[in-house]
Amino acid sequence: MNSEPATPPIVIALDGPAASGKGTLARRIAEHYGFAFLDTGTLYRGVAWLMLNDGGDPADAKAAAAAARTFDPQKLAGADIRTKEVGAAASVVAANAGVRAALLEFQRRFAAAPPNNAAGAVLDGRDIGTVVCPDATVKFFVTASPEVRARRRWLELRENRPDLQESEVYQDLLERDARDAARADAPMSTAADAELLDTTHLSIDAAFAAARRVIDGVFRRCG
Ligand code: CDP
Repeated sequence: MNSEPATPPIVIALDGPAASGKGTLARRIAEHYGFAFLDTGTLYRGVAWLMLNDGGDPADAKAAAAAARTFDPQKLAGADIRTKEVGAAASVVAANAGVRAALLEFQRRFAAAPPNNAAGAVLDGRDIGTVVCPDATVKFFVTASPEVRARRRWLELRENRPDLQESEVYQDLLERDARDAARADAPMSTAADAELLDTTHLSIDAAFAAARRVIDGVFRRCG
């Protein structure tokens, strides 16, 4: 047999702390280039939500790993996984090596064979450029000041929680960032070859334009 090896899909990795703008940016990038998109945070949030919904303790390592091994996104239909409580529980289950191992294969498969035969995949999370897809075509570490991130997240969350204080969201983000960066397994960190994108003073359009310049530059160099 003399068949040419298939061209591997393009992979664009975006990592960064909570509410840095990476999710919005990742979606825009995927839409613009016609790539598949995976918000890997939904996997950790999904496992956390299932545990909370069953009355379980997200810190129960065995139960969390079992929930991740049998994780089925169908079970999340109608679930509100974007709440502050689910976010906090997600960062607890995400520190569990058994949970991470169970979710790793799914993420790698998505990047290696994007749905609908897309030519590329965009994944956003905390360890995409470092652990899930260390050979990604383009990597970004998206960040913003904690104050600006807390303001963005508070504006989002208060639509459903008018009583929520901005200071509570701020505290919550700091705790979650600290837990995500300090865990032993796949901590949130900047890949050595990642492009740093600070969105503190950037609108979504400006952040997207900056990301596009980087991606188009890499595509030109790679032919
Ligand atoms: O949307 P937000 O930035 O608040 O968080 P998320 O991306 O939905 O992720 C929720 C939690 O899942 C994070 O705080 C991390 O603890 C964990 N996570 C992770 O450990 N690795 C990933 N690749 C994605 C999320």
